[in-house]
Amino acid sequence: MRTPLIAGNWKMNMTVQQAGAFADELLKNNLKEGVEAAICAPFIDLPVLAGKFKETDIKVGAQNVYFEKSGAFTGEISAPMLRELGMHYVITGHSERRELFGETDNDVNKKSRAVLEAGMTPIICVGETEEERESGQYTAKVAGQVTAALEGISPESAGGLVIAYEPIWAIGTGKSATSDDADAMCRSIRSEVEKLYDKNTADRVRILYGGSVKPATIEELMSKSDVDGALVGGASLKPEDYTALIAGAA
Ligand code: G3H
Repeated sequence: MRTPLIAGNWKMNMTVQQAGAFADELLKNNLKEGVEAAICAPFIDLPVLAGKFKETDIKVGAQNVYFEKSGAFTGEISAPMLRELGMHYVITGHSERRELFGETDNDVNKKSRAVLEAGMTPIICVGETEEERESGQYTAKVAGQVTAALEGISPESAGGLVIAYEPIWAIGTGKSATSDDADAMCRSIRSEVEKLYDKNTADRVRILYGGSVKPATIEELMSKSDVDGALVGGASLKPEDYTALIAGAA
């Protein structure tokens, strides 16, 4: 009952020209039906992608947002600005933003709320470090991130959210979590959502796994009952790999 979602996160890759070429190439492929496709791109690429994918089911999203609507915040982009561009998704709380740019749980909460308020869906990222995994604290760490991110979000909105479980040690390292470990963590996040809201909300929320997902591993990952899709970095940069990810998730 939850539609699978394959969300590409291009990170700081793809010039406007490259983004346009990617879109043209992707549009030549027949993407398998039954899987939602989304590309979260650098801000500068968003207008070209929104234009190219306008008449298609492919959704476009941003990788960051500022929580204020407008004002003297040099260099920032607001949720209403992204909505006007036709964005569906905004990634919030990616570990690279938390670790490299000092984003806190409170920032992630404010950004996620701003995204919802503007009529878009946040893809809220959570995940533990390698030390936290090894010391066994990972479930508590991730539960804490989920609780903080969802503070003040209504049950109606929460059910429509996307949460991405991305263990930091698996990002860009080629060292993916096993599909069973990914499934167990997605289940644990779902039970956290049930504690915060109710079973109906927990059954609706989509939970993705992210961390070195490749066309070769997607099918096994998607066979797990609590994994509703993937947030994919490196393997979302080539149209043929992205197409194969969608096919593997169908
Ligand atoms: O947002 C995506 C993740 O950080 C995963 O990146 O697929 O390159 O490991 P990756």
